[in-house]
Amino acid sequence: MVTFEKLTSLDTEEASLLEKRIFGKDAWTKEDFEETLCCDYAYYIVAREDGMIVGLAGIRNMCGDADITNVMVREDHRRQGIAEKMLRKLMEGSKEIGARNFTLEVRKSNEPAIRLYEKLGFVSEGIRPGFYDHPKEDAVIYWLRQEMD
Ligand SMILES: CC(C)(COP(=O)(O)OP(=O)(O)OC[C@H]1O[C@@H](n2cnc3c(N)ncnc32)[C@H](O)[C@@H]1OP(=O)(O)O)[C@@H](O)C(=O)NCCC(=O)NCCS
Repeated sequence: MVTFEKLTSLDTEEASLLEKRIFGKDAWTKEDFEETLCCDYAYYIVAREDGMIVGLAGIRNMCGDADITNVMVREDHRRQGIAEKMLRKLMEGSKEIGARNFTLEVRKSNEPAIRLYEKLGFVSEGIRPGFYDHPKEDAVIYWLRQEMD
């Protein structure tokens, strides 16, 4: 069974290894994840199965507008609804640090992620030309704006 928990200091090494495996050169390091633990504007969760991290997602909140900075699921655990559940839990849980509206960038060619975000109700609001390196590619900017409670 997959469970979802907040990222802790015990997870940062394993999280960085999963990042490296999925994002290569652009991966966050252990130190990047450790930094999020000290910030009251950051909210990161991991998906875990049998003790192993199989997914991770996180946000940085600024005045209610939250930037989703990381979304990933282990290759051998994809297409099981983990990312969808993880993002729903992330958005619900991050209300505790004041997040209301959510934004993210995604590679123009990343169809699985684009389909995921659109399924969750994110709407494309523009392009950042040449935003990504390794390889160079445009980013599509998505927003999910929610009513204030
Ligand atoms: C994008 C990613 C996080 C999706 O994770 P996942 O756990 O496989 O996604 P889910 O199983 O929760 O899928 C939810 C929805 O996303 C869409 N989706 C996910 N993978 C898809 C694929 N390969 N093709 C088409 N749609 C896909 C579908 O709409 C799906 O809903 P459905 O099952 O009802 O069709 C995963 O592919 C990943 O880690 N990719 C590499 C890292 C990455 O690109 N992160 C995003 C950076 S912006």
